[in-house]
Amino acid sequence: MGFSQNRAPKVSVLLCFLCLTCLGSVSAQSSPVFACDVASNATLGSLEFCNKSVDIDSRVVDLVKRLTLQEKIGFLVNGAGSVSRLGIPKYEWWSEALHGVSYVGPGTHFSGVVPGATSFPQVILTAASFNASLFQAIGKVVSTEARAMYNVGLAGLTFWSPNINIFRDPRWGRGQETPGEDPLLASQYATGYVKGLQQSDDSDPNRLKVAACCKHYTAYDLDNWKGVDRYHFNAVVTKQDMDDTFQPPFKSCVIDGNVASVMCSYNQVNGKPTCADPDLLAGVIRGQWKLNGYIVSDCDSLDVYYNSQHYTKTPEEAAAKAILAGLDLNCGTFLSQHTEAAVKAGLVDESAIDKAISNNFATLMRLGFFDGDPTKQIYGNLGPKDVCTQENQELAREAARQGIVLLKNSAGSLPLSNTAIKNLAVIGPNANVTKTMIGNYEGTPCKYTTPLQGLAAVVSTTYLPGCSNVQCSTAQVDDASKIAASADATILVMGADQSIEAESRDRIDLLLPGQQQLLITEVAKAAKGPVVLIIMSGGGFDISFAKNDDKITSILWVGYPGEAGGAAIADIVFGFYNPSGKLPMTWYPQSYVDKVPMTNMNMRPDASNGYPGRTYRFYTGETVYKFGEGLSYSHVSQHIVEAPKLVSVPLEKDHICYSSNCKSVEAVERSCQNLDLNIKIKVKNSGSVSGSHTVFLFSTPPSVHNSPKKHLLAFEKVFLKGQAEELVSFKVDVCKDLTVVDELGNRKLALGDHLLHVGNLNHVLTVRI
Ligand SMILES: *[C@@H]1O[C@H](CO)[C@@H](O)[C@H](O)[C@H]1NC(C)=O
Ligand SMILES: *[C@@H]1O[C@H](CO)[C@@H](O)[C@H](O)[C@H]1NC(C)=O
Ligand SMILES: *[C@@H]1O[C@H](CO)[C@@H](O)[C@H](O)[C@H]1NC(C)=O
Ligand SMILES: *[C@@H]1O[C@H](CO)[C@@H](O)[C@H](O)[C@H]1NC(C)=O
Repeated sequence: MGFSQNRAPKVSVLLCFLCLTCLGSVSAQSSPVFACDVASNATLGSLEFCNKSVDIDSRVVDLVKRLTLQEKIGFLVNGAGSVSRLGIPKYEWWSEALHGVSYVGPGTHFSGVVPGATSFPQVILTAASFNASLFQAIGKVVSTEARAMYNVGLAGLTFWSPNINIFRDPRWGRGQETPGEDPLLASQYATGYVKGLQQSDDSDPNRLKVAACCKHYTAYDLDNWKGVDRYHFNAVVTKQDMDDTFQPPFKSCVIDGNVASVMCSYNQVNGKPTCADPDLLAGVIRGQWKLNGYIVSDCDSLDVYYNSQHYTKTPEEAAAKAILAGLDLNCGTFLSQHTEAAVKAGLVDESAIDKAISNNFATLMRLGFFDGDPTKQIYGNLGPKDVCTQENQELAREAARQGIVLLKNSAGSLPLSNTAIKNLAVIGPNANVTKTMIGNYEGTPCKYTTPLQGLAAVVSTTYLPGCSNVQCSTAQVDDASKIAASADATILVMGADQSIEAESRDRIDLLLPGQQQLLITEVAKAAKGPVVLIIMSGGGFDISFAKNDDKITSILWVGYPGEAGGAAIADIVFGFYNPSGKLPMTWYPQSYVDKVPMTNMNMRPDASNGYPGRTYRFYTGETVYKFGEGLSYSHVSQHIVEAPKLVSVPLEKDHICYSSNCKSVEAVERSCQNLDLNIKIKVKNSGSVSGSHTVFLFSTPPSVHNSPKKHLLAFEKVFLKGQAEELVSFKVDVCKDLTVVDELGNRKLALGDHLLHVGNLNHVLTVRI
């Protein structure tokens, strides 16, 4: 989304005036927006589209045929029009719920009635939990709070979340919003979160609790880097990278998550704006993946490709192209301005508009919007009492605890003893922050617990910010060193905030800002006790200096940990919770960004020019911390108890590979089906502290088709009491999970030895025909 950003200055001034004068009426508004209100007009009850017992397709047909062209066009934009004759009020499609109900987007507001909603950790930290049931549990709480707010007129029903773009480059300002760099993790996050948001308690499985939206389709992961911005960027993507890196999360979101919407992005992919590309929209999303829902543009992608990219000569052509490509809804006003002229000029038929609005209406019908008073429907009993409940806020704290990653821990450092530590020095510009903890696409939280507040609730603290903000242009090195020298232990809470990495703000380097490194190093030198460095950030940093500094005894990455972040940090620091988070993205050294232009979309290394590739799947260079890294307070050992050594693909006799020497076979062939393997791993916690542990199953395929050096096949998080063991079973679908994408974008099963690995364990699985 960039609409609000582009136009923010004007809009916010205006809003301020409005707030002052209309505050009373905003907070007094307490009824939901809905169509078919028979209490206000009894005749509506006899209209077929208002009849709940009729199937949705017929209701949609009935509604569309009652509308004039002008009225239809009003339903192509986020600020949708009203038709009072038919009992249809205005509806605002744009609401957001990335990690809690958000005030970004005009469809949702907080007021005296609901002053805040539960603010979960920013997504990148939740992803670090590697706990698929947590993803869904959070989505479920968010949709309950969203419905509760809808019932009192404060929220819409259509939420443009989650953001599931691959975190391809560590500089990306919006990497924080995503579930990281791995396609499998991103797919599972998308599926889990979307199900949590959408799954209705209604007996009809097609009904939606709220509608989610997977964005930004596709290959969108550059905001503003050295003068290249997302409104002008043409992502040049190979077929191979497209189909094994950028598309899989979207495919899963649509097919496995059954999402109600996909949002196309601002950027071009291989010379075409995504929102005007019929292959990407009508072809892939609706054709191949069979989206049950609507395709929406980013805000305002159409205006962007017309006015900034000059993709078409006239605005009418721009409007027609989007609709013909398969776009259903325009965030912005471009289609309301130019569609009628486009129809008159013969550039697009009215039937194409009917198709688009039918998808939009069907979504609203699945949400119950045309069923009359929602307070008399399935979620009608939800209200302000269901927002910010004790349990919901406890889940926000739990999510942060599950995600926080322990990157370094020297003997005798963490956990700190809450009895032995009499005085804790708490230093750093992020030590007592509130809003920083909730990242972007935030809402007003229920309340905050800052790191300082969390820690001070356990032991006595001495606090010094050390720098006035994270930019840290000057550091109070002497004062900070003094308090560290006399404290039993020192905690430095450093890192970033939205002034460093944000929407429209990519980083240009990976070093800690300003004098942060100096402050950390000097404080550590002076400190009497253990020194714990806490990095609060979305993206990774080159903190090799701290990794290699013996005086810095522990390092924690806490993402942007949400409203309860400080409590979760204290839980981990004092050992009330055993850390179990694992990095969902590679932490690169500074040299990486010196070598790699952010604009290069290639995932694979290129030996001819020294390009090192991207993410753990391809990157060949040094790392600061690796994907999947993360320590705990217990020692867990793993061993493979069951794994086949051989799998044969039963090819038909006339198959070409029968006679010639093939390196791979097509994964979609009839013969490559239902080849499931069971892999069993025993996990034992040999320590005394209980905790959760994520088992990762990776594979290194035979090196054909420029395949990844390794890729994640499956992961599973298990809870283990001290000394307990657990058997983890993975079902591997050979023709799906073990495949690679070839140069032309086709899934192939490589023949030969696949090296499966779990931690340090290796197992060779030979695939042959
Ligand atoms: C609603 O549709 C059902 C099923 O077609 C029909 O039996 C019923 O009479 C309709 N209700 C009204 C008020 O038209
Ligand atoms: C009530 O609904 C009917 C059916 O759409 C419509 O013809 C009529 O104008 C509406 N009455 C009012 C007062 O809006
Ligand atoms: C820490 O932040 C909280 C919340 O903003 C504030 O109330 C408190 O005064 C701050 N504490 C210190 C010691 O500055
Ligand atoms: C995953 O998250 C859920 C929800 O918070 C929690 O109940 C469960 O214990 C977690 N699983 C593990 C293995 O930690």
